Amino acid sequence: MFYQNKNIIVIVTGSIAAFKAAVLVRYLIEQGAQVRVSLTAAGAKFVGPLTFSTLTKYPVLQDIFDQNDGQVLHVKWARWADYIFVVPATADFLAKAANGLADDAASSTLLASSARKIAAPAMNDQMWENQATKRNVKQLKKDGWLIIEPVVGFLAEGYDAKGRLPEPEDIILQAQVRLLAEKGSLKGKKILITAGGTREALDPVRYLTNRSSGKMGYNLAQAAAEAGAEVTIISPKSKKTAYPLKQIEAVSALEMFDSVKKELKNNDIFISAAAISDFRPEKFSSQKIKKNGAAGLTIDLVQNPDILAQAGREKQNRFIAGFAAETEKIIDHAKAKLVSKKADMIIANDVSRSDAGFSVDTNQVTIISKKTVKKLPLMSKLAAARKIIDEIAKELD
Ligand SMILES: Cc1cc2nc3c(=O)[nH]c(=O)nc-3n(C[C@H](O)[C@H](O)[C@H](O)COP(=O)(O)O)c2cc1C
Repeated sequence: MFYQNKNIIVIVTGSIAAFKAAVLVRYLIEQGAQVRVSLTAAGAKFVGPLTFSTLTKYPVLQDIFDQNDGQVLHVKWARWADYIFVVPATADFLAKAANGLADDAASSTLLASSARKIAAPAMNDQMWENQATKRNVKQLKKDGWLIIEPVVGFLAEGYDAKGRLPEPEDIILQAQVRLLAEKGSLKGKKILITAGGTREALDPVRYLTNRSSGKMGYNLAQAAAEAGAEVTIISPKSKKTAYPLKQIEAVSALEMFDSVKKELKNNDIFISAAAISDFRPEKFSSQKIKKNGAAGLTIDLVQNPDILAQAGREKQNRFIAGFAAETEKIIDHAKAKLVSKKADMIIANDVSRSDAGFSVDTNQVTIISKKTVKKLPLMSKLAAARKIIDEIAKELD
């Protein structure tokens, strides 16, 4: 886990969103971090130090003149920290940090520390759009700060606008992805991933589909983003993600085929993780098919194009990986697919297991390339995705 054993100071400043900092602190602790909190005087008006000292089991730093055994606390804390999160960060605090002011315990700790700094600003939309705030944010980015931008949402003022603090889980995940990406193994690469089960329409209300949830594809997208790649995902339905991701919606196999064809040329790596329907109904009924009088219903199916094989035909210098959902002779079938699809890697998963494959959060995969066969144990889909991305990076090396 990224935050495991990391020393993290969370500075909480005087924003109405300060209550969310308590949840952020708890998540960081759950992920194995040692967390200490420093509150500005305004921050303490919104959430009391008792909340944070109880969560962190450590006194909260509020007063610049606090000492412990004769040691100046903010200097001691500054040396201890690996990361300093300012969540939420007020416009005022951003201004202070951008200008190197140190007139309270929190800002002095910041100035005295060489830790990596991450700020999640939250404020009124006019404050966020103000030239002074923009200037300060630009300066902080230049100084190496990671800025987790506020999102558009319901503000305390009673309307929707940009200025709202993202949810604590999203702040932590976005920071993790962006920090890992800085020295990632796929930096500078562009990767295209398909995810989810396609839907083949019969009539306006019915469709044929499969049990794929898209989890493996989205976990691969996260792992690729952590590795520093620029990621595009094609799936039947876009999802909210904490990190930047280009998302394209394609519902049927034919739509996915067209989207992949279009996007492939912009990418260095292609992973086909979607469960694309092999067949589609030959005819689409523009009216709902009625049951009246029909003793039964026969649906004629035609084959869909093979997206992985098509990507293999247009391969050029691209790295191509595909998933093989198998229920028997997994490695033999995957090896055959490697050749027939002109792929560089096949990731075989045994979908006959109840704890692997469709819908569940765990998977057991075997990574097969021309060079290696690696059978991984059962693990979370995210852990498996990271291993797959690692293997791809090694093959590209
Ligand atoms: C009810 C209330 C809510 C506030 N919410 C915010 C906010 O969300 N963002 C912000 O930048 N300032 C907000 N402020 C203004 C800050 O609290 C004020 O600028 C303060 O000086 C910030 O001090 P600090 O940066 O040392 O924490 C709010 C003030 C009040 C009274």
